[in-house]
Amino acid sequence: MYKVTLIPGDGIGPEVSEAMMKVIHAVGINIQWEKVEAGESVIEKYNTPIPDYVIDSIKKNKIAIKGPITTPVGKGFKSVNVTLRQSLDLYVNLRPIKSFKGIKSRYENIDLVIVRENTEDLYAGIEHKIGDYAAESIKIITKPACERIVDFAFKYAQDNNRKKVTGVHKANIMKLSDGLFLDTFRDISNKYNIKSDDLIVDAAAMNLVLYPENYDVMVMPNLYGDILSDLCSGLVGGLGIIPGANIGKDCAIFEAVHGSAPLIAGKNIANPTALIQSAVMMLRYLEEYEYANKIENALEKVFLKGEKLTVDLGGNSSTTEFTNEIIKYL
Ligand code: NAI
Repeated sequence: MYKVTLIPGDGIGPEVSEAMMKVIHAVGINIQWEKVEAGESVIEKYNTPIPDYVIDSIKKNKIAIKGPITTPVGKGFKSVNVTLRQSLDLYVNLRPIKSFKGIKSRYENIDLVIVRENTEDLYAGIEHKIGDYAAESIKIITKPACERIVDFAFKYAQDNNRKKVTGVHKANIMKLSDGLFLDTFRDISNKYNIKSDDLIVDAAAMNLVLYPENYDVMVMPNLYGDILSDLCSGLVGGLGIIPGANIGKDCAIFEAVHGSAPLIAGKNIANPTALIQSAVMMLRYLEEYEYANKIENALEKVFLKGEKLTVDLGGNSSTTEFTNEIIKYL
């Protein structure tokens, strides 16, 4: 039996979390959920969007899965997602981008992995206004953070039989900060017997659209990872299907790449695949490969049949109908 912290989140979070739990229960693995709440709705009660009991629960169980949490734009509290990643030192954001047969997309057979640094860069949140006419955000890049994320990417490539690691940066302009990332990337690449190259982030954006097959594992600082993850999800059918894992030395939080999608929240039309796939990543992290494979196979069958797809994938099924279809194939 595993005890897992569950943060349902807000927007479409509770709906996709419910679907994910139904699938997990149907596959038969014994997981006990410790449900905790974070985000705007708890501020009144706890005076913070992340009460201590949430962090304590994750530290105790060492494993969590979360739905998306809304972050106010241009004002309000600091992102709960970023705070969780920083306070638990979840330095890796791992996002596998893989095509499913049956999902309509401009590309086929995409199989690449984004490894995003998760604790610093412009997400350090060091900003200040200079009077009313300017504002500064400070971009922090440190050698230890570069070393551990690049090393993770190469180790991941080695352990998963991947062919190449590409370092993404903007060291032509940010010669010191991204320069440090690039130097570290090149140093660490020499320790591994894996093909590697590096690429400026704007060129990476174009090349990923033109020749996605040229890329395999891609490692990069936080902001580029955020942007290129969404770009890559567009290569395989959209945000509704891409999972993710925030991994640290002591614990891990699994979550979809997508956000809280407020416009479709509460309508029972969100695609729960991304969170279900995040649960599959969690099961593999727990070395429960058989259960993980069963869920992945069921998803493959549902997409191949193509009869019960959600609206984002061109279908007209509800979240519930799609989830029941997965369960039928388990
Ligand atoms: P979003 O990912 O919520 O939505 C972007 C587009 O994708 C929308 O058209 C939405 O309807 C669609 N979409 C996303 N997930 C979907 C799903 N599962 N099924 C079907 N369609 C889906 O990004 P947006 O609108 O930029 O952000 C909304 C809020 O979410 C913001 O407050 C943002 O800060 C937050 N956010 C939270 C994240 C997290 O909790 N890890 C990650 C990204 C954003």
